Formats: sequence, C-alpha cells, structure tokens
Amino acid sequence: NRVVALIVAAGKGERAGGGVPKQFRAIAGKPIIAHAYDRLAQHPRIDGIVIVAADETQLREALGDRPLLAVAQGGATRRLSVRAGLDAIEALGGADIVLIHDAARPLVPSAVVDRLLAALEQASGAVPTLAVADTLVRKDDGTLADRDALARVQTPQAFRFADIMTSHRAWNEAAEPTDDAQMARSAGFPVALVEGDPMLDKITRPEDFALAEARLGQRLF
Ligand code: C5P
Repeated sequence: NRVVALIVAAGKGERAGGGVPKQFRAIAGKPIIAHAYDRLAQHPRIDGIVIVAADETQLREALGDRPLLAVAQGGATRRLSVRAGLDAIEALGGADIVLIHDAARPLVPSAVVDRLLAALEQASGAVPTLAVADTLVRKDDGTLADRDALARVQTPQAFRFADIMTSHRAWNEAAEPTDDAQMARSAGFPVALVEGDPMLDKITRPEDFALAEARLGQRLF
C-alpha cells in the first residue's frame, strides 16, 4: 500500500499576523511546515511527501534538504490547492492512500495517523475529531446547538486516493468546502471519524504560536 502525505501550505495565513505566512514562521527554532513534514516523514507507513505552496523558493528555504516527491503550485482556495496536489500525485503514478494535511498544524501525533490508517480498512475516508467542550449557540438567534451531536474536525484526513480524486472531480457545490471530508461525503463515500488530538489544533491566531511551542516542550511524540 503506497501512502503519500499531501501538505497544503499555499494559504496567506493572515489571521495569525506577522507578515510572513504562518506556516513559514518558526516555533522552537524550526519552521512550522518543517515540523509538520518531520512528523509525517517519520511515520513508518508514509512513503513520501508532496507539498502545495504559493512560492517554491520560500518552501525550499524552509525545508532545507528534506526530500519531496513533488511541489505543486497553490490555488486560490484550499480546495484548489488540494486539487493541485492530488493532480501532482496522479502524475507520479498515483497512490493507494493519501493523507491530506494543513501545514498550519505542526504537531502530528503518530497515534492519530495509526488510527486513520486503521479506519481506512473499512471506510473510504477517515478524519480526526474532538468533542466540543463549550456550549454552542447560533449567532443569529442565540438558540442552542446540540453539542453532543457535534465534533471539531482536524487534519490529517486520510482517503483512498482514487475516491478523493473522484470526489474532487465531482465537486459542484456553490459553497467552498473547508476540508476534504465534505467533498468525499458529497460524492457518496463513507468517512469514518477517529479520535483526534488537541496537539493537532490549527495555528490561527497570534497567541497560537506560543501555545504550540509550549505543547512541543511538554510532550515527546
Ligand atoms: O486558511 P486556513 O487556515 O483554513 O488554511 C488551511 C490550510 O490550507 C493551510 O495550511 C493553508 O496554507 C492551506 N491553504 C492553501 N491554499 C489556499 C488556502 C489555504 O494551501 N488557497
């Protein structure tokens, strides 16, 4: 089973502040994208890594001599960036499984990757999720949403390569999807939910850099 990790890193990362896109800023002396790369590359089931970036020079600077199967040019939306990466994998001869990951999530526990790959033995896709701790309300009228029926969805998201390729090709909804599981479900493929990890939370706001650094210091992977 050939497993390829696809990291999307072509976003502007503007909410995090600081000018440079967040995935190229360093935590604990190493660029965020390099943390994500190293966590995925060290997993024994992952055979190679493809990255989607807006600026290949900036990417190569951040990664040093880490090997890549391919670099693809980013698109205007996350969906189009993922699509560019999937097309690059296909051009390399395809894969059995692809793990699609946001560069802005530097800390990837290998146990989560294990759970995703195990779930793919039954399902077409698998995503890491966490329970919601806070009360949730609708912003328009303040009514409660059923917290127990909801979960937070993280990446990496694992898919059978052929199925997610089909899902991307078939996508024709007006709204822009925020992850790939939405596309797989929309195309009729079953997506399993596995337990995620708070370590995987996306770096979004300025204070998230310090939080990720603290988490990195507290736990051995
Ligand atoms: O903006 P957001 O945090 O939702 O982005 C999630 C991931 O998708 C990030 O790693 C970002 O770099 C990537 N992305 C991309 N191309 C875009 C938009 C976002 O690769 N056009």
